[in-house]
Amino acid sequence: MSDLANSLSDLERRFAGAAAHAADTRELDAARVAFLGRSGEVTLLRRSIGQLPASERPDAGKVINAAVERMESVFERESARIANLAFEAELSREIDVTFPSIEPAAGTIHPIRRVLRDACAYFERRGFAVVLGPEVEPDYYNFDALNIPPTHPAREGFDSFFITDTLLLRPHTSPMQIRTMQQHAPPIAVVAPGRCYRRDAVDARHLFQFNQVEGLLVAEGIHFGHLKGMLTGLCRELFGSDQRVRFRPSFFPFTEPSAEVDTTCPKCKASGEPCNMCGGSGWIELGGSGMVHPNVLREVGYDPDVYTGWAFGFGIERLGLTRYDIDDIRRFVDSDPDFLKQLA
Ligand code: PHE
Repeated sequence: MSDLANSLSDLERRFAGAAAHAADTRELDAARVAFLGRSGEVTLLRRSIGQLPASERPDAGKVINAAVERMESVFERESARIANLAFEAELSREIDVTFPSIEPAAGTIHPIRRVLRDACAYFERRGFAVVLGPEVEPDYYNFDALNIPPTHPAREGFDSFFITDTLLLRPHTSPMQIRTMQQHAPPIAVVAPGRCYRRDAVDARHLFQFNQVEGLLVAEGIHFGHLKGMLTGLCRELFGSDQRVRFRPSFFPFTEPSAEVDTTCPKCKASGEPCNMCGGSGWIELGGSGMVHPNVLREVGYDPDVYTGWAFGFGIERLGLTRYDIDDIRRFVDSDPDFLKQLA
């Protein structure tokens, strides 16, 4: 029995020594395997119990178990020491705080958002309010209230995505004319920017989802000259101070008279030289406009003998193509950071 005690204390001492010298977890684990592992020294000692007289065996087992427990706690202590060692090493590592860092990638405002914001800002400075409306609209707001009855051929012109027989994705922002006038008594001065949808095949000049900005001014004594002045100012704000604006007679059921609005090509300045932006015509189409039709005013309860107004609707992507001299409208929706960064 005292032989066993001697062997055990020798073994414990050697294990404690090995564990204390372990420089890392790998060395510590090696010590554990050598002493406490399945075929380690302690196991060999346990086997030797079989040679003791039967009466001594239970006590021998207890003595070994107690020793193993002490060795386990030595192991825990040394594990903690090594973990702390690694932590201290990490803490004392020298860091050069003057070393140049990697430039963080910053986002930029999307060019379409910028054009939209600038167009709205121009009108806001002139006292217009910005109003937003739903992209899913009943046909009443899209058509009926805008003087386009169910059988009117103009409905065909707005190739719309219908959700039900009467609900559709708005093909223009003009429904906001009706919504605004139904909610407020005249005078009215608003711009309504937002997404629109048409069943157009996607190409260099068309997207099926695009943005428009609608403008509406209704008060006593408003005439076409006010519209011309306001849109000329807008074009000069967006494209440069020498821009001119041209109105071509056109037709919209909700305006009378109606006009398409063109502005001088900011690239060739209508010089007559070959130009890939305007095709040499010298003019860029911006959208539709006109004097609000009396039927539209009547529909919202305004007296057309007292109030007159103008309205326009421009495509934001078209403005963007012209402003940034871009050859393909699809670039705006490709989400190519390198392209977007160039316009930031
Ligand atoms: N809503 C028309 C379109 O999208 C544009 C327009 C707006 C025309 C307002 C006249 C007045 O084509």
